[in-house]
Amino acid sequence: MTTPFSPFSRRAFLLSAGTAAALPLLPALKAQAGDIKTFSLKASPAAVRLAPEPFPETNLWTFNGSSPGPEIRVRQGETVRIVVENALPDDTSVHWHGLRIPHAMDGVAHLTQPPIPPGGRFVYEFTPPDAGTFWYHPHVHSVVQTNMGLYGPFIVEEKDPIKVDRELTWVLGDWRLGTDGQMRDNFGSQRDYLRAGRFGNTVTLSGQVAGSQVFRAGERVRIRLLNACDARVFSLRFHEHHPKIIALDGQPVEPFSPPGGAVVLGPAQRADIIVDMEHKPGQSFPIIDGYYPQAPYELVTLQYSDEAPLRSSPLNTPIRLAANPVPKPDLSNPVLLEAVLDGGDMGSLEKAMVHGIQKTKVEMMAAGKMWAINGVASFHNHMDPMFTIPRGRTAVLTFRNRTVWPHPMHIHGHSFTVLEHDGNSIQKGCTVDTVLLGGGETAKVAFVADNPGDWMLHCHILGHADSGMMTIIRVA
Ligand code: C2O
Ligand code: CU
Repeated sequence: MTTPFSPFSRRAFLLSAGTAAALPLLPALKAQAGDIKTFSLKASPAAVRLAPEPFPETNLWTFNGSSPGPEIRVRQGETVRIVVENALPDDTSVHWHGLRIPHAMDGVAHLTQPPIPPGGRFVYEFTPPDAGTFWYHPHVHSVVQTNMGLYGPFIVEEKDPIKVDRELTWVLGDWRLGTDGQMRDNFGSQRDYLRAGRFGNTVTLSGQVAGSQVFRAGERVRIRLLNACDARVFSLRFHEHHPKIIALDGQPVEPFSPPGGAVVLGPAQRADIIVDMEHKPGQSFPIIDGYYPQAPYELVTLQYSDEAPLRSSPLNTPIRLAANPVPKPDLSNPVLLEAVLDGGDMGSLEKAMVHGIQKTKVEMMAAGKMWAINGVASFHNHMDPMFTIPRGRTAVLTFRNRTVWPHPMHIHGHSFTVLEHDGNSIQKGCTVDTVLLGGGETAKVAFVADNPGDWMLHCHILGHADSGMMTIIRVA
């Protein structure tokens, strides 16, 4: 689907600058010794270089001085402890997006823990049950904090990894920069809130305006793609290559080639792909993001080195990942739920409940609310459960998007199977934690409510969530 406006109207000089810098690898965070793998994350402001000189450094909010923050890597079944220190001038928290972990560790300020005050710390400890590609980001003042750069990848390695020659994590981010190279601070823009969210004008791949990425002919690479953008959807085409998707949102899928070869990723979504470098030394190919047809651009160049091919014929080893222990929904007697999404620009929402009081659209706007789920516009620190599911039961939840805008809908604490989707979605039949609904689309998802607690359900366009498109699912 296309958005009815161009997100590139403020498109930066950067996107067209054509820098040739090779991409750096993400810094891996070293665990401290001991039985429990322990990591430290410090949230603090830092100046970061998003593009080579003469482009200036940009003042961001970072984990350990970089954005994306360091890659946290553990083995499936391993217990991890993460000590988070807050050196920001604001409350924070860290949510482990997609990990099915206990409620108390979910990192939602005001819901699962008190916010971490400036100068404060919080120790998270959990054992991720699933292998896969996940990520972390704050869950308080999210519009500002994630758009300022606070996020990073969280990788849980399989017990028996598939054979590849190399593994890469590509974190896709975008930034709304002024001509001085600094972040534009219009985070609360009503126009963004009412429409498709906060688009940046500068796209980065793992924190760098991308130039080229060097590969060797014949190698097989696993790329973990993560869309950390607030609003931008990607549709990535690997020119003359045939990526196979092996996992979505961390959960294994029967390996498939996406229609037209396009890997579509909404905000917060991840895809693990296998790419065989099937061409000749010295050749180069573009990876094009064509989601917005009015403004396709080259994300990065695949550059083959001059080295002799790694092997003469392509690898033939299996790429299917072992299943994770996600319980299978029992569709014989599910709890049926519905979430009708309404609001925004060009929408039909006339009124909604705000703090238990029926408000007109004008009154809602005055309270900073522009979206609703089932006629209720919620506040982050003030929510009653909209849905209650007895623990252990299967829920079938139908999302109906009655707006013209896309909404990547995310549920905490659970992964769900997309039973039906009336859009052109690569997620159909797959198990994910965030389902992307285009304007007017409907999707039906199912999950076993096996994780007790009050869990957030919200749009991952963070301004939408902030202005009402969130609620609580209680599993009790
Ligand atoms: Cu990525 Cu409520 O989170
Ligand atoms: Cu939304």
